[in-house]
Amino acid sequence: MNDDAGIESVLREDRVFPPPAGFSESVGGAWIASMADYESRYRRSIDDPESFWGEAAREYRWMKPFTTVLEWNCPDARWFADGTLNLCDNCVDRHVDEGHGDDTAIIWEGEPVGADGPEVLRLSYRDLQRETAKFGNALKALGVGKGDIVTIYMGMVPEVAIAMLACARIGAAHSVIFGGFSASAIVDRVNDADSKVILTCDGAWRRGSVVPLKANVDEACAKLPDVEHVVMLERCGNDVELTEGRDHDWATLVSTQSEDCPCEEMAAEDLLFLLYTSGSTGKPKGIVHTTAGYLVHAALTAKNTFNLRPGRDHVYWCTADVGWITGHSYILYGILPNRVPCLMYEGAPNAPDEARFWDIVERHRVTHFYTAPTAIRAFMKWGDAHPAKHDLSSLKVLGTVGEPINPEAWIWYHEVIGGERCPIVDTWWQTETGGHMITPQPAATPTVPGSCTLPALGIDAAIVDDDGNELPNGRGGLLVIRKPWPSMLRGIHGDRDRYVETYWSRVEGMYTAGDAANRDDRGYFWIMGRIDDVINVSGHRLGTMEVESALVSHPDVVEAAVVGFPHEIKGTGIAAFVTLASGVEAHDELKSTLRAHTGHEIGAIAKPDMIRFTNALPKTRSGKIMRRLLRDIAAGRDSDQDTTTLEDLSVLAKLRDDED
Ligand code: PRX
Repeated sequence: MNDDAGIESVLREDRVFPPPAGFSESVGGAWIASMADYESRYRRSIDDPESFWGEAAREYRWMKPFTTVLEWNCPDARWFADGTLNLCDNCVDRHVDEGHGDDTAIIWEGEPVGADGPEVLRLSYRDLQRETAKFGNALKALGVGKGDIVTIYMGMVPEVAIAMLACARIGAAHSVIFGGFSASAIVDRVNDADSKVILTCDGAWRRGSVVPLKANVDEACAKLPDVEHVVMLERCGNDVELTEGRDHDWATLVSTQSEDCPCEEMAAEDLLFLLYTSGSTGKPKGIVHTTAGYLVHAALTAKNTFNLRPGRDHVYWCTADVGWITGHSYILYGILPNRVPCLMYEGAPNAPDEARFWDIVERHRVTHFYTAPTAIRAFMKWGDAHPAKHDLSSLKVLGTVGEPINPEAWIWYHEVIGGERCPIVDTWWQTETGGHMITPQPAATPTVPGSCTLPALGIDAAIVDDDGNELPNGRGGLLVIRKPWPSMLRGIHGDRDRYVETYWSRVEGMYTAGDAANRDDRGYFWIMGRIDDVINVSGHRLGTMEVESALVSHPDVVEAAVVGFPHEIKGTGIAAFVTLASGVEAHDELKSTLRAHTGHEIGAIAKPDMIRFTNALPKTRSGKIMRRLLRDIAAGRDSDQDTTTLEDLSVLAKLRDDED
């Protein structure tokens, strides 16, 4: 397996943390009240999935009720296939119709802090209904219709939520690109999705400076002749150019639209969105999610994992960006149907200072807080004084996602942020799974730092060998899901073979997640890391080949090998071993150039933390790069101490080869 994942833990932590006393009362009652409750519901969900999922799906508003729950022809699933509904209707209009139009749906806070404090906006369900209707009509005016794919490349502004929901409202699909990705990354994704419309902002606030989103779109559009419309929201007041005939000012476009835009009736299996993620090859893949099944599992897991209850003064905050699956499922589509106010924050955790998040928790009385281990490690490093300055007593549930959490970070989160009174839900899932797969239930599951514990209801997770045989507890193996679930990906956009090969061919009849895992003697799952060439940098998924392709696209580079290494904050850092073209001299400046080049090709998250120049890459006799050896080398050195000296790693490889 790929041993890149996770920082090494110095703390062994065997303590078990039962759900804190008084927790259920503090959240107005628990959906899953005890382990016995969980176990009996789980058993039923696995023994009779159709009745379990059918019941779960009937919680939502259907235009035409479904009569079949599942058609399963591995690896193709059709859930609730003859039913029709609309996701925006379930997130927004339904609440208005049921008398909750004035309740708060979204609380938004901007990054800049002026003399009067930060800008804060509250959007009710009625506001969202009006704004998604107007923006839906704006999209229609640009020719967008059912089935078209709209690309969204925006900052964390309220309009990004409005735009996504408006697409769902009119039956268009969206493809959101994280604002940290570069122009080249936009080109690849827009081409793959065949998108004719891009929604963007002039810029996005990030730690006091402006990320030039519109300029990146302009650079991308120079290579995208088929893009017909770019709609730009003005947020930062930075200098931008509007191209006549192609570009539209958001506010002007919306101002003339009618508020009448009924939610389109969608078939359960209609495309809802594409979201690109990294895999083992150089090309990111467009993960396909469809309408009803995605809604059902995202909303059910949001309800159970965070124990969300409407009308209980909950304020839920997920710190992810909507450009990732966490933002799709647990800022918008899973949260809004639960009718709990959701906080969206625009900027960085250390703007204007390192206490910003705790200031937000205090001012908005946040009850549910969901973040990534990499952020928790940064908070730890910044010191306890920052959270100590703020009243965090409103917090009730803490969540983590994206990468394994090391016990030190877990304990710190529990003690310093949660005041030892908040259950921690360590949620394991993926872009492909759409929603939580393995996670504690906050009022029921005793937690152990570092373990994501047990499968969510309806999820048949197991650890198996290559032949699909379940392994006994204590033996690591492949993490698989043996039964289909409603929010599973339906494919990779435009690449059927890759879908089958990546997820369904390693073990027959089972979904292979790409992670290795282990179970302890309680049956709890422990994620060990990826089994493919994917690394998890600050909770963001990157393919080592993507970074390698970016590096070799520089004229000075002939070959590059990229591996992960343990990194104190990021979990995994990126190490690049680079062979230079003949005659090119190795020097520190070239490292900076190559880092910038990678940033330009992919985005800042892909910039190597360590670059080593080498005369030759170590290879086996059959010509495969010896990544294991490179990982060992990368792990043994500090990123600051790397030298520019060209070294001959093939010598080391020979030694290693002789040992084998
Ligand atoms: O390796 C697992 C890791 O993140 C991968 C999925 O990445 P992505 O599709 O970008 O989705 C991230 C947000 C859901 C997984 O294959 N991962 C995710 N959550 C955890 C995790 N590893 C350990 N513990 C987790 N809780």
